[in-house]
Amino acid sequence: MLKKKDKYIVAVVGATGAVGKEMVTVLEERNFPVEKLRLFASERSEGKIINFHQRGVTVEILTEKVFDGIDIALFSAGGDRSLQYAPIAAKAGCVVIDNSSAWRMDPATPLVVPEVNPQDLKWHKGIIANPNCSTIQMVVALKPIHDAAKIKRVVVTTFQSVSGTGSKAMDELFHQTADILNFRDVKPVVYPHQIAFNCLPQIDKFMDDGYTKEEIKMVNETKKIMNDDSIRVTATTVRVPVFRAHSESINIETEKKITANEVRALLSKAPGIIVYDAPEKGVYPLPVFAAGKDEVYVGRIREDHTIDNGINMWIAADNLRKGAALNAVQIAE
Ligand code: A2P
Repeated sequence: MLKKKDKYIVAVVGATGAVGKEMVTVLEERNFPVEKLRLFASERSEGKIINFHQRGVTVEILTEKVFDGIDIALFSAGGDRSLQYAPIAAKAGCVVIDNSSAWRMDPATPLVVPEVNPQDLKWHKGIIANPNCSTIQMVVALKPIHDAAKIKRVVVTTFQSVSGTGSKAMDELFHQTADILNFRDVKPVVYPHQIAFNCLPQIDKFMDDGYTKEEIKMVNETKKIMNDDSIRVTATTVRVPVFRAHSESINIETEKKITANEVRALLSKAPGIIVYDAPEKGVYPLPVFAAGKDEVYVGRIREDHTIDNGINMWIAADNLRKGAALNAVQIAE
């Protein structure tokens, strides 16, 4: 367990990646009490300089020996690195906040969204898992409704931006868009098909039952974060040609009746949420608007007339911030 201090030695593992860079920005913006920042990546990035509070911090190569003296390590360098290095870091006395899926479903590792289950931070043993980006923004919006009316079932379809796959995927969307507009052929590398001007109903690998791993993550992680195995979740996850911020269409069935106005009132008071819902004025959550913001935007709130107790809504949030870096820093706070 980490001792309370005025300032902490903080590491970002995967500091040159899309999420890692955002972690450094969020630590700076929130004025996290950092005594010293250490940045790690692969040998490809050794010696690169990243700015933190107007000072250059040099990127170091990640090895098993680097964790001595580090208080908190934010990991976002892929699941294999987390599997290998997080236990070593924890053994060296460091609290790891891991953005990969490596430890999320481990029964000994809490999976935390601070607005939803902060109480689970108490039982960590050195590793705390940061949930999947699509799951984080969904549970922030579900929790107040679950507390008020008990959610029985959720049907969610996601519209996920390419930054969720990392910086190479952002480059792929950029270059494919330019290639298509210049009548050149495109060659998919990161994604199985062209992502520019397209939608891919596949995120991660397919499992035997036809669902993708991303869809299964949304099902299992929601139950774990909400501490309720009875919530039934079914998901279809789709990659769309958006650089930043994921959107989701969510259909909810509750045990108790709750009206659209009651949902609007509840969510307006809930932490981390902005209700953005005046469709007659063209006001509803958009990924271009949610990008760079901290909150989960919720709109298009309406009753589902096909069932007794149903709500439909549309949400958007920045997957690199609330979906990853911000949630990790909030856990550290
Ligand atoms: P590097 O830039 O040196 O490859 P993204 O998700 O945007 O692709 O970023 C992945 C992050 O994980 C990058 O910072 C990357 O560093 C880092 N990373 C990838 N492989 C390794 C490795 N073997 N050791 C340390 N860091 C790694």
